[in-house]
Amino acid sequence: MTTERVIEAVGVRKNYKGGTEGAGLNGFDLEVTAGTVTGLLGPNGAGKTTAVRILSTLLELDSGTATIAGYDVRRQGAEVRRRIGLVGQHAAVDEILTGRQNLVMFGRLNHLGHAAAVRRADDLLERFSLTDAAGQPVGKYSGGMRRRLDLAASLIVAPKVLFVDEPTTGLDPAGRLEVWSAVRQLVDGGTTVLLTTQYLEEADQLANRISMLKAGKVVAEGTPDELKTQLGSDWLDLVLADPADVARVIQLAEPLADGEIRVNEVRISVPVKDRTRALVTMANSLHEAKIDPEDITLRRPTLDEVFLHLTGAAA
Ligand SMILES: Nc1ncnc2c1ncn2[C@@H]1O[C@H](COP(=O)(O)OP(=O)(O)O)[C@@H](O)[C@H]1O
Ligand SMILES: [Mg+2]
Repeated sequence: MTTERVIEAVGVRKNYKGGTEGAGLNGFDLEVTAGTVTGLLGPNGAGKTTAVRILSTLLELDSGTATIAGYDVRRQGAEVRRRIGLVGQHAAVDEILTGRQNLVMFGRLNHLGHAAAVRRADDLLERFSLTDAAGQPVGKYSGGMRRRLDLAASLIVAPKVLFVDEPTTGLDPAGRLEVWSAVRQLVDGGTTVLLTTQYLEEADQLANRISMLKAGKVVAEGTPDELKTQLGSDWLDLVLADPADVARVIQLAEPLADGEIRVNEVRISVPVKDRTRALVTMANSLHEAKIDPEDITLRRPTLDEVFLHLTGAAA
């Protein structure tokens, strides 16, 4: 296990001139270790793109420090740029050219000879399951195919760190799954990835570590499991067959609840501390009350609940 720090940001501040007071970054800290995917998770406007732009030298920070592979983004920009790739929120590929032509062009722009560029393009098309579509103009690609081509283009020169800014925003569920598998491919290939997302599920699926961002500051950081454990309680979820039983079941659940019980129609979620005892007690109470639920399950908190708890806002 290497613990080489590939990205490090300490107390980074950025206030946009003429922008809203407090918008941007307000003491942003981040540590990313080689060979991992770190998810930067936060709602719209939290500062995700600002952080990516600063780390990739596209935007200058006001104060604090940030380094990529030990190189300072402010003073050693050229060294930083040599080691990074960036897949932005908006596709950088040309719609008229085919997928293969786009990749060959990127290769040529990155100083590969023609034959080497073609070879690299074909490798990447294969890797991202785009071989069949390689000869079609990108204008005909689905959203998921386009993002996969973006990812492929960013890998032409095998960057040490790849920034991927909201890769699945605006994609349908199928496109999202395609992109997830493409990101997993990247990581299997050894690329260190900083992925921004507003989707908790995406961070949970792809990231080894997650930094939760709120108003330009990281409010929690850890593995998905650590973040869920931070919250303490587990949840006892009940789905009732008969809406008429809801009030009675809430009453039965109250003595077990370690916090506020949530009710959504016939679904009742009870935060509990001693999970097994809570399950047994609840099952007994229901049995005695002759209520037969559709479903009764124990589960860990979701990242959504962690985020809600920490920030008072849904991601
Ligand atoms: N060029 C800009 N000028 C002024 N304010 C900006 C600019 N870019 C972003 N902001 C503001 O900074 C905050 C963070 O934006 P951004 O980094 O794009 O967030 P995210 O990517 O998490 O949605 C938002 O409040 C946004 O309105
Ligand atoms: Mg953004």
